[in-house]
Amino acid sequence: MISISRTGSMRSPVVVVGRFALKFARNARGRASNLYEAKLYRSANETRRNLLCPVLWVSRNGFVQIMRAAKPLDDMMSLDEYMNFAEVWDKMPGEDSCPFEPKASDWGWFEGRMVALDYSTPAWEADEPTSSSVP
Ligand SMILES: Nc1ncnc2c1ncn2[C@@H]1O[C@H](COP(=O)(O)OP(=O)(O)OP(=O)(O)O)[C@@H](O)[C@H]1O
Ligand SMILES: [Mg+2]
Repeated sequence: MISISRTGSMRSPVVVVGRFALKFARNARGRASNLYEAKLYRSANETRRNLLCPVLWVSRNGFVQIMRAAKPLDDMMSLDEYMNFAEVWDKMPGEDSCPFEPKASDWGWFEGRMVALDYSTPAWEADEPTSSSVP
C-alpha cells in the first residue's frame, strides 16, 4: 500500500510504503529538517523517544529520510494535550526550543501512542529573524 503526500512545505513528497515513510527534501530547509530529526531521534533519551516517530535512516546530505509510517491525526490536539507533550519533553536550559508544533499534520498514531512526525522546528528557525529578535 503506497500513499503520497505533497502537503509539506519543506518535505514533499512524503511517500508512505507499508511501514515506512520516505521524506524527500524540497529545499535546503527540508534537508536541514531531515538531518535535524535524525540527529534528535538518535540522541533522545527513552522518555523523549516515546514522543517521536522513529527515524530509521537519513542520507548524508539530508535529501531523503526514512521514518516509520504513522497514521496522521484527523484533528488538531487540544491545548491540554499539547501542554502535556511539552511537559514530558521537559525542555532543558540552553537547549533548542521544544521541537514540535500542535498542528494535526505534524502528529500521528504509531504503535498505539501519539507521536510527532515533524520535530524539526529548531532546525531552521534561526535562519530568519523572528519578531522577538527584530526591534
Ligand atoms: N512518519 C510519517 N508517517 C506518515 N505520514 C507522515 C510521516 N511524516 C510525515 N508525514 C506526512 O507528510 C506531510 C509532510 O510532513 P512534514 O510535516 O514532516 O513535512 P514539512 O515539510 O515539515 O511540512 P510543513 O512545513 O507543512 O509542516 C504531513 O502531512 C505528514 O502528516
Ligand atoms: Mg510539518
